[in-house]
Amino acid sequence: MANQNITPNPETSIFIQSHSAPLRIWHWLTFLFITSSIVTVLLNSTMFSQRDNVKLVQEQLEKKGVTVTEEQAFAVSHEYEEKMWDVHKLVGYGLAFLLLARIVIEFTQPEEEKLRNRLKRAKELRAKNDANKAEYNHYLKVKLSYTIFFLILFCMALTGLGIAFGRDLGFSREINGSLKNIHAILQYFMYSFIVIHLAGVIIAENGKIKGLVSGMINGNRS
Ligand code: HEM
Ligand code: HEM
Repeated sequence: MANQNITPNPETSIFIQSHSAPLRIWHWLTFLFITSSIVTVLLNSTMFSQRDNVKLVQEQLEKKGVTVTEEQAFAVSHEYEEKMWDVHKLVGYGLAFLLLARIVIEFTQPEEEKLRNRLKRAKELRAKNDANKAEYNHYLKVKLSYTIFFLILFCMALTGLGIAFGRDLGFSREINGSLKNIHAILQYFMYSFIVIHLAGVIIAENGKIKGLVSGMINGNRS
């Protein structure tokens, strides 16, 4: 029965596959946590931006008859941004846990649903060079994009945890600064994956691969 779900069926697409319940729960939790993480980053660069809020703190205190310097106002505005980073860190720990959970799922789910087996099978199918080659090529690229996503998430979690625990681990200011820079650059890879993934899923669902999204909800299990 191995590979039953990734054997091409002329009636449907090779993309219509079964997904175990743990994988589906993992997928939607990851969606929720990554979205929350991005929301905290967006809020910190807009509503809680310390630079923008310095003026706000000064103006509000001025109205109450208190004059504070930029430095004093910065101490207050900075705290709000820090509070939001604390939320980002908590969500980040959740993401690091989800990454670990995905590794456990990979080893414990049915053979035909393992990402590495799907990648292997995709390469075999492509090598057949038959009429479906274009679809197999596309399928392989999609599965490779998931591997790249796991690599990005791994690097984000590693740098994020490095920033969070750097002081306890004795990291210097320079190392901490570099980790922050790498972590900040990685966000753009993450955004790129999400845009490509969502566009791909929507185009596929509206095109030939009807039932792709519901498969990630009901598992396509018969
Ligand atoms: C995977 C787990 C993650 C962990 C453990 C984590 C942790 C952290 C920590 C500790 C900081 C420093 C906050 C501070 O300055 O006090 C940070 C900053 C940041 N994080 Fe994350 N994060 C994670 C995922 C993400 C994701 C998914 C994104 C966005 C796609 C993201 C984007 C950022 C950005 C833009 C910053 C600001 C970096 C800077 O200082 O320029 N992080 N993160
Ligand atoms: C932050 C947003 C998202 C991330 C990071 C994400 C990540 C992923 C990953 C890593 C996989 C591969 C699962 C595996 O085999 O391990 C996947 C598959 C999938 N995702 Fe998402 N996802 C996101 C949002 C969404 C949304 C909003 C939808 C639906 C509207 C969706 C629909 C699907 C579907 C249908 C698959 C299976 C496609 C296939 O069989 O190749 N995803 N997603």
